[in-house]
Amino acid sequence: MMGLRLHLCFLALFSTFLISIHGLGPLCLPEEHVALFIFGDSLFDAGNNNYINTITDYQANYEPYGENFFKYSTGRFSDGRIIPDFIAEFANLPFITPYLHPGYHRYTDGANFASAGAGALAETHQGMVIDLKSQLNNFKNLESLLSKELGDAEAKKLLFRAVYIISVGSNDYVVPFTRNSSIFQSYTPEEYVDMVISNLTFVIEEIYKKGGRKFGFPNLSPLDCLPLARALIPGNTGACKQELTALAILHNKALSEVLQKLENELNGFKYSITDTYTILSERINSPLKYGFKEGNIACCGIGPYKGINSCGGKRSVKEYELCENASEYVFFDTGHPSEKANQQFAEQMWSGTLNVTGPYNLKELFEDKWV
Ligand SMILES: *[C@@H]1O[C@H](CO)[C@@H](O)[C@H](O)[C@H]1NC(C)=O
Ligand SMILES: *[C@@H]1O[C@H](CO)[C@@H](O)[C@H](O)[C@H]1NC(C)=O
Ligand SMILES: *[C@@H]1O[C@H](CO)[C@@H](O)[C@H](O)[C@H]1NC(C)=O
Ligand SMILES: *[C@@H]1O[C@H](CO)[C@@H](O)[C@H](O)[C@H]1NC(C)=O
Repeated sequence: MMGLRLHLCFLALFSTFLISIHGLGPLCLPEEHVALFIFGDSLFDAGNNNYINTITDYQANYEPYGENFFKYSTGRFSDGRIIPDFIAEFANLPFITPYLHPGYHRYTDGANFASAGAGALAETHQGMVIDLKSQLNNFKNLESLLSKELGDAEAKKLLFRAVYIISVGSNDYVVPFTRNSSIFQSYTPEEYVDMVISNLTFVIEEIYKKGGRKFGFPNLSPLDCLPLARALIPGNTGACKQELTALAILHNKALSEVLQKLENELNGFKYSITDTYTILSERINSPLKYGFKEGNIACCGIGPYKGINSCGGKRSVKEYELCENASEYVFFDTGHPSEKANQQFAEQMWSGTLNVTGPYNLKELFEDKWV
């Protein structure tokens, strides 16, 4: 066994020159190396949508996005870092590059497949975003690339030890509401949630088949409290608990149930859910307690709650206002947390105690080398 390993590493070193021009990192990964793979929507997209044919509604590659940390816009929907950036920092990894970024890639650290606006349902912003199943296909392409470059055994080991984080669902519920779609006349809330969860389940199972064992999820927030929902959705009175939040609650219950089921069915499957529903609600209700001044109104945008999606002035509505200090706000724009709020979410995902994150937190999943 040892001999075989040395042999593989020798071969790997031998081909390092070839591999480095393909932009891959070092081979013979240290035993403790744990990669991070990222899937989902704008909460996790670090810039994939910069490279697809879409419209500025689903892009954040212009000012003032990113300015408080990166000093320029990267495509992240925040004034600075997003949740996966903090998780990578906590795990001693560099920021994980968007899969579609044409530049240098160290895929041995992981990859970010997330796409702003994406949902688990293909219909959600269809043609404008990379839906979850297409993200999975990108992951499968990466898997064959890794197998070619590292050899099957090392690639398998990398995928086996890696942590997979997925943020998806909000758009599947929010989009039909912002468009006043009649979809909820065709499906009961339970049926609709079932479709979203089964699409997500399919993707989890496919990643598992490729070797993935450790999965992390934020659950859905009280969607009626997002500035965009308060400002835009017909019939929303500004209260946090209306139809959209009811769907989020159903979704969160179904997500917990399906993950428990997968844990029973799939050998070695481990997961972490963070109760972002509660974490966000607490910050909206008591911003001061968590170091914010404003929990309801966004920092950047226009209209009621700054809920009209105009931050940056490059979308259909050109007028926008920008607050002086985004760190005082829970929401940076109409649907996305400020960097400071992202940091607090990431801390809860990383090391949150059982009342917010369980059955494992991400720190435990990263440290678990023996799945
Ligand atoms: C997910 O949902 C859509 C319906 O929007 C369906 O067409 C698609 O095949 C489903 N499955 C997956 C794995 O995405
Ligand atoms: C939303 O759609 C319903 C019918 O589907 C219609 O009666 C209602 O007026 C629409 N509301 C808005 C604000 O467009
Ligand atoms: C912005 O607000 C945060 C949180 O209240 C505070 O710590 C920071 O000093 C402020 N920055 C500036 C430039 O005023
Ligand atoms: C969870 O428990 C921690 C530590 O016991 C506590 O500080 C925190 O407020 C609790 N959070 C929630 C949402 O109950």
